[in-house]
Amino acid sequence: METSNHFGALTPAAEVAAAFSNSIKGKTIILTGVSPKSLGLATASAFASQSPANLILTGRSAEKVEASINDLKSNYPNIKYHALIMDLASQSSVRAAAATINDDDSIPTVDIIVNNAGVMAIPDLNLSEDGIEITFATNHIGHFLFTNLILPKLIKAAQTSSTPTRIINVSSFGHQFSPVRFSDINFSKRPSDLPEEERPDLQKTEFFTGNSHADDIYYGFFSYAPSKTANILYSVSLNQRLQEKYGITSFAVHPGAVNTNINRHATPSDIEQAHKRVKELGFDPTQKAIEQGANTSAFAAIATNLPSVNTSETQVKGVYLADCEIDDANVAAFATNSAFAERLWTLSEELVKQKFEL
Ligand SMILES: NC(=O)c1ccc[n+]([C@@H]2O[C@H](COP(=O)([O-])OP(=O)(O)OC[C@H]3O[C@@H](n4cnc5c(N)ncnc54)[C@H](OP(=O)(O)O)[C@@H]3O)[C@@H](O)[C@H]2O)c1
Repeated sequence: METSNHFGALTPAAEVAAAFSNSIKGKTIILTGVSPKSLGLATASAFASQSPANLILTGRSAEKVEASINDLKSNYPNIKYHALIMDLASQSSVRAAAATINDDDSIPTVDIIVNNAGVMAIPDLNLSEDGIEITFATNHIGHFLFTNLILPKLIKAAQTSSTPTRIINVSSFGHQFSPVRFSDINFSKRPSDLPEEERPDLQKTEFFTGNSHADDIYYGFFSYAPSKTANILYSVSLNQRLQEKYGITSFAVHPGAVNTNINRHATPSDIEQAHKRVKELGFDPTQKAIEQGANTSAFAAIATNLPSVNTSETQVKGVYLADCEIDDANVAAFATNSAFAERLWTLSEELVKQKFEL
């Protein structure tokens, strides 16, 4: 399925924002993972260009969020910016940040949230303070908890606004390298010891890195891929619970290949090698500028010409976007399977020790 529009891989996000300015003007938008030279800041900048009422920018470093706000203010001084400090890897920090939003009467509704923050390829196995592998804790569990806690304000927006209320989960084409490891979230098993439907794609991984990872219990890319699959499955679940009932839609997005700080754990030669191999694997090798990398997050958040996500089949369609269009062809079946989405929801509730009945 394709959405017909004139945007593509290299459209700057600001152009997308200008085309759907009504979805932004006067609205309240939250972005996670905003720091200098990041996709979060570029996405925020596109939104800022169309006069939202509130831009709530979250990050784990107060300094980086402040620097980002100063950057935005230099171009768009008349917007109300809010710095919200939240470490997504810490459930107590996430709960405190969500309480700040929920207790703030000057923010009665939240129209859009872009769950953009992420970490990739952390070289060694680390557990969060809550005992969860740090990549999964940051990229999925923190966003699951934060979004679910502030849902009442999104539901209120959907009930009172004529423009889209959306939840965007920033994923990656890298999800294709692994399903969620439901039975081994904290990496204690070799791939061959996992149930078949939870195993990483060793062939693709070897081709990508040039090394065999068959005996690796933990490998940095093994932890990134399931977390990015979880981002898509979380969108599937949100649509099942919120789309028909409240008119809230969730999309998962692949931004493209963009030179940001996401590569901080890799050497320049690792990156060069990875790009070469990605190209050989047949994935889109187009290098995007940051403003272009933010285009699909912006598009998914505000476009009014996007169809509803079709959740009626076991394999959900229309939930994954890349280059400003729906991209069903490049999303793995394990990332759009509604049974896996349900399993992830239950596991996530267990990990945050809270049930969300929607
Ligand atoms: N760039 C690409 O080519 C590419 C491709 C596919 C998908 N993506 C996805 O795009 C998203 C944005 O990444 P990016 O490329 O802009 O990378 P980035 O420059 O590294 O930005 C990631 C942001 O997430 C924040 N973050 C990391 N851990 C956090 C935590 N525990 N709590 C709160 N915030 C945290 C970072 O803050 P600190 O600076 O303080 O760490 C930073 O602001 C990610 O989800 C990534 O997976 C990127």
